[in-house]
Amino acid sequence: MKKTLVIGACGQIGTELVLALREKFGMEAVVAADLKSEPNEALSNGPYVQMNILEKESVRSYIIDNQITDVYLLAALLSATAEKNPDFAWKLNMEGLFTILDLAKEGHLKKIFWPSSIAVFGPTTPVDNTPQYTVMEPSTVYGISKQAGERWCEYYFNKYNVDVRSIRYPGLISYTSLPGGGTTDYAVDIFYHAKKSGKYTSFLSKDSALPMMFMEDAIRATIELMEAPVENVKIRSSYNLAGISFTPEQLSDEIKKNQAFEMSYEPDFRQAIADSWPNSIDDSAAQKDWGWKQKFDLSSMVKIMLDEVDVSMMA
Ligand code: NAD
Ligand code: SER
Repeated sequence: MKKTLVIGACGQIGTELVLALREKFGMEAVVAADLKSEPNEALSNGPYVQMNILEKESVRSYIIDNQITDVYLLAALLSATAEKNPDFAWKLNMEGLFTILDLAKEGHLKKIFWPSSIAVFGPTTPVDNTPQYTVMEPSTVYGISKQAGERWCEYYFNKYNVDVRSIRYPGLISYTSLPGGGTTDYAVDIFYHAKKSGKYTSFLSKDSALPMMFMEDAIRATIELMEAPVENVKIRSSYNLAGISFTPEQLSDEIKKNQAFEMSYEPDFRQAIADSWPNSIDDSAAQKDWGWKQKFDLSSMVKIMLDEVDVSMMA
């Protein structure tokens, strides 16, 4: 029997992933876990456990005692937050991964999903249509942790046959929960401010192109990769996903097609992080290996976000 545990379930991805997995596999088959003592309201339709991924022995006991088969490990510090606390970011982003990889190596888990990021690329990577295999010299602690994680995932697959699968998510755009401290967060914040005041000050410059993706596509990609036949998953580091590439100015122009809106720009420390990442991504390997096809473009994503964001959620 498949029994899934999503660790870091209360975050931007986890909230929507748990709901999608429960819809597909049943409420009781998907346990949400997070550091938080209580789940988000959205997750109260199924089992929830408070869990600290850094408490290795209690994580191991929970997974073994509850006969968990599949883990989605989402707990991490994102790029901007990680730069403020590099030591802890390295600890959180790496130790949890080893705990889960080792459980699978010992035969306690069947499948693992661990997310990587466009942050694995760096200033020496070709910026346009960045290939699956290319120069990777990340310059942030977050990117270094994701690149190291990719190497360890591939190592555990090659050496111990651990079925670990991964996607290099672009910046994710969603309205169910707020983003958690990334460089791409401006592309979510902007919708709350557009709806509330019709104005936004971007912390990235107007011409900073980055790959982004609407959450519904990201969740579908994650589940499609996890459900793909094992022989189709040929990359065990992490798959590129292209998403939609745009600049803050292009996003602002698209919002202006729907409502009155004013944009200004005050780049901060996150500009240097954005400058080290690709403008656009080549995801032909994901298309070829497991049939990936993106659905949302800039215009459809903007319309949904303007309709759906709830300004009462603003921090
Ligand atoms: P988030 O910050 O929104 O959520 C992370 C969740 O993990 C939070 O609910 C937090 O409470 C929980 N958490 C933190 N420390 C924990 C601990 N010690 N034990 C258990 N739970 C803990 O992050 P997200 O945006 O949902 O990202 C999830 C994963 O996807 C991360 O690995 C991130 O690097 C990756 N990713 C995200 C994006 C994006 O744009 N959101 C893009 C690329 C990759
Ligand atoms: N959206 C993430 C960040 O900005 C990319 O991994 O940190």
